[in-house]
Amino acid sequence: MSLLTKPPVTRKRFSGISTPFFPWLAARLWHFIGAVSVRTKILGIVLGLVLLLGIVTTLEVRAMSQRALTQRLAEQSVSVARDVAARATDLILINDLYALHQLLEETRRNNPDVRYVFVIDPDGAVLAHTFGSGFPAELLAANAAPVDAHHHTVALVTDESTVWDTAVPIFNGQAGLARVGLSAASVQATVRTLTGQMLLTTVMVSAVGIAAAVLLTWIVTRPILELKTAAEAVGQGDLQQQVRPWADDEIGDLAIAFNTMTTDLARAEQERAEREHLRAQLLEKVIAAQEEERRRIARELHDETGQALTSLMVRLQMMNQQCPLPELKPQMEDLRDGLAETLDNIHKLSMELRPSVLDDLGLQAALQRYVQDYNRRYPVQVDLLVVGLEEERLPPPVETAVYRIVQESLTNIARHAHAANGSVLVERRHGRVRVIVEDDGIGFDPQQVARNGRLGVYGMKERAELLGGTLTIETEPGQGTSVFVEVPL
Ligand SMILES: Nc1ncnc2c1ncn2[C@@H]1O[C@H](COP(=O)(O)OP(=O)(O)O)[C@@H](O)[C@H]1O
Ligand SMILES: [Mg+2]
Repeated sequence: MSLLTKPPVTRKRFSGISTPFFPWLAARLWHFIGAVSVRTKILGIVLGLVLLLGIVTTLEVRAMSQRALTQRLAEQSVSVARDVAARATDLILINDLYALHQLLEETRRNNPDVRYVFVIDPDGAVLAHTFGSGFPAELLAANAAPVDAHHHTVALVTDESTVWDTAVPIFNGQAGLARVGLSAASVQATVRTLTGQMLLTTVMVSAVGIAAAVLLTWIVTRPILELKTAAEAVGQGDLQQQVRPWADDEIGDLAIAFNTMTTDLARAEQERAEREHLRAQLLEKVIAAQEEERRRIARELHDETGQALTSLMVRLQMMNQQCPLPELKPQMEDLRDGLAETLDNIHKLSMELRPSVLDDLGLQAALQRYVQDYNRRYPVQVDLLVVGLEEERLPPPVETAVYRIVQESLTNIARHAHAANGSVLVERRHGRVRVIVEDDGIGFDPQQVARNGRLGVYGMKERAELLGGTLTIETEPGQGTSVFVEVPL
């Protein structure tokens, strides 16, 4: 089977296109919660719990009390209606309507929940009622009880409240029907008062909870904030930071661990500084010894070897003039040319090692001579600009360091940069010496070079830093190279 006939494998991936809802919600929620302070978190938890507990309890108690009170009201309605029916029987039989009326009024007065009481005869005519001027006729049909029933209760919903209306047949219905209506208004009022009180309690407990939470967060976050401040100070290099352990808990342990850490860090830092100091001292000595040695060899080459060769040359010249054998002349000419070349090489070598102009005439003259020679030797055109060194010479260590840095930079340009042009600027200004060596060559990747462990660039940096200065290289492949040096005086 060839690759072409193979069915394409389709893989569907949805992650990243649409995130499932719950992880998304959790992430959003955490994003929100994580953004607020610990204080707000604790306050939120306390307040949320108190409010939730308060509201749920209030609602439950409200529902339970409403149910219990309503049931009691319905039962009361039955007992009042039965009482009226029992006591009305005789009065109806002897047709004493006045006493019947009195009975109904008395019943209404004795129980504040009673909205109305009335009695109807077996034909449905109202015998007595407590409505005063007008009896609401529609009430008659609202409830009834079969003659053999014990009672019959209905809940009538009116504009103001629910009325529990109970009908009880009088004398098995032969003397009529007693009806009593008990209003649920007071039950409602009681439930409302209860709810209000519980809500008030919730609010008060919330207030206490907030106060407690504020105190708690203060206690919890104060040492944490102190640790944070101390950690920031350590981050900025102050290793003397110590924090007070507040309590013998996890945060106290953290404080102790923090203190141990800063103490260790301070000790390590001190050791590092001592080592660094020693290293710098050693390096300074090595560099000074190296310069001294180069100076000595250069002087030796110039004074001893150079002088000896020069006098040899003079004597050869004299021999040549006085020689009676003309066939020896070409050989003596060759000898003289060889000697001149060797002398030139020795001069170059001594210049390279340590030009005496640097010691005798100073940095500006030494650089001028070096660049002149460089432009003759290499196919790179380098311009030199020296500013502010005319009047006063720089301290010898700075002169040497700047000379060596420029020398190494220019050698690098000749060896690596493939550049057409270069420039050297040495400027003394505001108590500092600034050196910039630039080229328009191929550039390089400084990180990769740092990994390769080459010593030229590293040595330049060391020289600048030994004098309390800095050296930075700005370069990119294809973008040329700039070496910036700044040394305080
Ligand atoms: N001006 C420059 N242009 C291009 N590459 C450079 C330049 N200067 C330095 N480099 C690169 O940085 C490397 C490290 O330089 P250096 O530390 O002087 O070591 P070395 O000259 O002995 O190779 C060089 O090998 C070269 O690749
Ligand atoms: Mg080099």
